[in-house]
Parts: sequence; C-alpha cells; structure tokens
Amino acid sequence: MSAYLQCIEENCQKRISPTTKAHVCPDCSGLLDVMYDFQITDPDKFKQTFQQRRLSNDPLDLSGVWRYRELLPFCSDPAKVVTMQEGNTPIYEAPHCAEYAGLKRLHLKHQGLNPTGSFKDNGMTAGVTQARLMNSRMVACASTGNTSASMAAYAARAGMKAVIFIPDQQIAFGKLSQSLDYGALTLQLEGDFDEAMKMVKEITEESEVYLLNSINPFRLEGQKTIIIEMLAQRGWKIPDRVVVPGGNLGNSSSFGKAIKELHDLGFIDKMPMVTIIQALRANPLYKTLIDRSARLIRVEAHTLATAIKIGNPVSWKKAMRAMEWTRGWCDVVSEQEIADAKAMIGRDGVGCEPASATTVAGIKKLIQTKEIDKEEDVVAVLTGNLLKDPDYTVNYHQNNLYEKASYKNELIERKDKIQSTFANAPLKVKARKEEILRVLGL
Ligand code: F0G
Repeated sequence: MSAYLQCIEENCQKRISPTTKAHVCPDCSGLLDVMYDFQITDPDKFKQTFQQRRLSNDPLDLSGVWRYRELLPFCSDPAKVVTMQEGNTPIYEAPHCAEYAGLKRLHLKHQGLNPTGSFKDNGMTAGVTQARLMNSRMVACASTGNTSASMAAYAARAGMKAVIFIPDQQIAFGKLSQSLDYGALTLQLEGDFDEAMKMVKEITEESEVYLLNSINPFRLEGQKTIIIEMLAQRGWKIPDRVVVPGGNLGNSSSFGKAIKELHDLGFIDKMPMVTIIQALRANPLYKTLIDRSARLIRVEAHTLATAIKIGNPVSWKKAMRAMEWTRGWCDVVSEQEIADAKAMIGRDGVGCEPASATTVAGIKKLIQTKEIDKEEDVVAVLTGNLLKDPDYTVNYHQNNLYEKASYKNELIERKDKIQSTFANAPLKVKARKEEILRVLGL
C-alpha cells in the first residue's frame, strides 16, 4: 500500500513523498491531501473485520481510529503508532434537542468523550504517529485550546517536546490546564488565533519543528474516522446529514474526504450532506460561500465560543470541497442561539462546550428556513466536553453571560447581555432541614 501527498489544486495536483516536511504544495502553495492506491475491492468484508476488531485487545483494535486502519493506511509499522484509545465515542439520541430544533429525531455523536475531551484526539493520534515516522523530536501548533491540549498529551506519550502557541487570555482554563499538566511549553502570544497560526507556520517552515495544526493532512486522516466510526455504529445506515461546527475547518474537511472515499470505495451508496455551522461574527466560510468568492473573505473573529474564534481558516478550500461533494451547506448562528442550544444539549444529559452547540442551534435555524426537513435523519457532532469551559456554563445559568466582556486580570466591562432562557441557577439555602424541605416542596 503506497501513500503519497497530493496538491488539491485542480490545475496542479503535484504528488510528493509522504515524508516530505511540507505543509503545502512546494509549487503552488495549495493544500495537500494524503492519498492512497487503495486495495479494497470487498467493502463488506472490511465492515465485518472492523466489527470483529471490537472484540480484540490489540492496542490498534482498541483505538477508534486505528481499528479502521485500512482506510488511512499511511503507517505500515504498528510499533510506531501513538494511541490513547481515542475515538470510541458514543452516539446519543437527544429528544429534548430534537424537539427544540423541530426535528423528529436527532442524534449527537459526542467527540468530547475522547481522552483529552475533544475530537482533536482522533486527528492527533495520526499526526503524532506521522511525526514519529519522520523522527521528529519537537512538535508545535497554534490553538484555541483543544488542539494544544491534545497535542501536549500525545507528544508526552511519544516522548516528544511540545510547543504550543495560544492567543493570550483567550482560551478556556479547562484547556490551558491540560497543556500545562502534560508538560508542553506554552507560549501565550499577544493577538488572536490567526496571528498565532501565522507565527507557528513560519517557525515550523524554517526549523526542524513539526507542525500539527489541521493544515497537516495526516491529522485529517485520523479525523476521517469520526465519520467511519459513526457509520459503523449505525450498522452503516447512512444519515441524510452530518452537522459540524466550523472554525479552522479541519474537521469539516476530513468529513468530506471520508465520505467521498467511502463512496468511491463502495462502503456507502449515498453521501450524507456536510453542514457546517459558524458563529455569526466568526463567519469567514459563510461569507465566502454567500459571496461566491474565489478567495477567502477573512474576518476579525468575535465569539464567546472561543474554540471557533477564527477569521482566517487554513482549510477553507477543503471545506468548500466537502460541501460541493456532499451537496452540503454552511450557515451562521448568533451568540444567543449558541447559548440556548448548549443549555438544551445539557437537558439531554449530554453537555458540551459552546462551539459544539452551534450544531443544534444551526439545525433549529435551518429547519425554520426549510433547508432541513423535520423528517431528516441528522447526526450532529459535538466536538468538545462541557468541562473544557465551565465558566461559560456557570455564567449562563447564573444569568451573567455577556457577549462582550473585557478583562485585565479581572472583569472590567460587560456589554450585550445574553438572555439565560434556560437558566438553572444554584439556590442559596441555609443548612437547615426545614429550609431544604421547603425548597424541595416536601
Ligand atoms: N469545536 C471545538 C471544540 C474546537 O476545539 C474546534 C477547533 C472546533 C469545533 C472547530 O473545528 O477547526 O476543525 O473547524 N479548535 C481548534 C483548536 C482550532 O485550536 O483547538 P475546526
């Protein structure tokens, strides 16, 4: 089985060795895909093999990424794989969310239940494995917090040095605490994620350091398994639509590639529509799509869903391609819509971080605009764990969430209050039995 890198630009398509340390095409700076000469002629046999591996204790089979290794066959040496049993995330039926959004039924695939609490682990096991195949000793990424948490953990497992570039004071503490604990060198840069991304690209181009942002196509190979695992869990019953938040647009890109490859290889006979939801004021893909622009329309991003506070997403062309292949779409939701949808996901006993809630908010909006039919079979992908950003959740439930809050170590200004429509604030009660019984209505 041979893997190679190929430029995604139609008029270039340059092929290069998979061990070239390049983030983009050396000729035209286009994004790169990992491509294979797949040897799969009998998909049903592979579906059975994937199922049987669930009974195995082999470390590769225990991983929800490497269990599907024939669909991402870039590593021929199992001993090199760096795995933490990532993936293996559940799909929950979500009746409250379905009713709230106006759908008959809705399923949530909860990538927040990964080892470091986000979908990044699916990608990072692949990215760090490739780093090991290339004998890298130092890896780096820019991050809004989850990529860095994941990279720090996998680098620690692999014995590599991790360097993370994060926007100063803009990442949630749950995420920051992870990379500190996992031993990463943490550089807090003045400026936003887009500036941190620019710096890390320059530095990794000019040095031995290996870049592990989702511009790295090996990361996206791992993230393909979110779709593969979801289909396997559903007995290969194909949903009409998969809804995913859009930030740097790596995830939506990998979903498109997974669906296209599964379709080309005969695993599926129709393609679920990839629907990408962005925050209203962090909406470069949406703007680009609506304006039918051939170039990305960058924005200065603002949203309390800090994971997707990104105005210049690197993988936008791959995300466009994913929508084209699958007849998908992109839309935007407001801060208010995100906050209420998040509380609704919580009511289903599931919970997630704010960026993930764009999915349910987006479905509700698209049902109202009749883009989605209420009978559709929809899977929303929750990307991060509720505990990543507890401040947001507690502020919402205490009626204290503001779209614009400025800090200089402490809160100095609040503006544009978000309505806590589904607030569930804690009650202060005296530690007296009668008082508690009174509050309980007993
Ligand atoms: N949801 C969560 C929880 C995220 O952390 C991210 C991205 C996204 C959605 C958006 O996914 O970038 O593939 O479109 N977080 C990155 C990070 C940027 O640095 O952790 P995307």
